[in-house]
Amino acid sequence: MKSKPSVQTFINIDELSDSAKRSFIEIANEAIKARGRFLTVLSGGFTPIKLYEKLAQEKPALSNVEGLDWTCVHFFWGDERCVSVDDSGNNYGMAKKILFDQIAIPDSNIHRILSELEPAEAAKDYADTLKGFSEPPLEWPRFDLVLLGMGEDGHTAALFPGSPVDVHTPTLAVTAIYQDRPANRVTLTPIVFNQAREIWFLVTGNGKATMLHKVLKGEHKPDVYPAQRIQPVNGNLVWMIDEAAGRLL
Ligand code: 6PG
Repeated sequence: MKSKPSVQTFINIDELSDSAKRSFIEIANEAIKARGRFLTVLSGGFTPIKLYEKLAQEKPALSNVEGLDWTCVHFFWGDERCVSVDDSGNNYGMAKKILFDQIAIPDSNIHRILSELEPAEAAKDYADTLKGFSEPPLEWPRFDLVLLGMGEDGHTAALFPGSPVDVHTPTLAVTAIYQDRPANRVTLTPIVFNQAREIWFLVTGNGKATMLHKVLKGEHKPDVYPAQRIQPVNGNLVWMIDEAAGRLL
């Protein structure tokens, strides 16, 4: 059953990230209690960096309800740039530096997109990785939590305006031009995102206000506004925004 997206507005990114951190830990602990593990998808971009920094301060749980047992957490990505892991545009590389190097998480819990491969090959490899966590009849997991961002052009992950809306493969190699960021990427597709139990868009800043208004209040045009392609079939969709991004809503 599709539920209406909810919008949470915060004064600034710091407040947003504090709240997101608390909810992340809560959802993670619920998933671990219910299914023994927490499968989460990270996004790239600048907006989630503060959240990752705050999560990095979260020490392994002892026997209390606070904190999080990182050994039960599995990380995936919504998209990746096909650049080396030490390139500043590499989403895995960024999360490693900010988060994984600071917490007690086994390497085997990190399921990165192999960005050093040719994009088509990396997309295939990533689809195989997803199969290893699949929830039949799906060939991919039902993620517990997906984090997404949105570009000023309405793109999300590496689903860009004008790209095909109905994609039937779980992963895709794409060539995209956005600001000065590199063109070759691998992305998950809506059929994977939309099976998630929980999806959050993190969107901040004045520059996103016009597009956010179009995506949330405008006509349904998923070919032009890819963020509208994200509609969980049986999960929650939450937009976590700051006042600047939400000024036109
Ligand atoms: C990426 C993303 C991309 C991002 C948006 C927003 O790898 O860059 O997955 O879709 O979330 O471009 O980026 P900002 O948070 O930097 O505005």
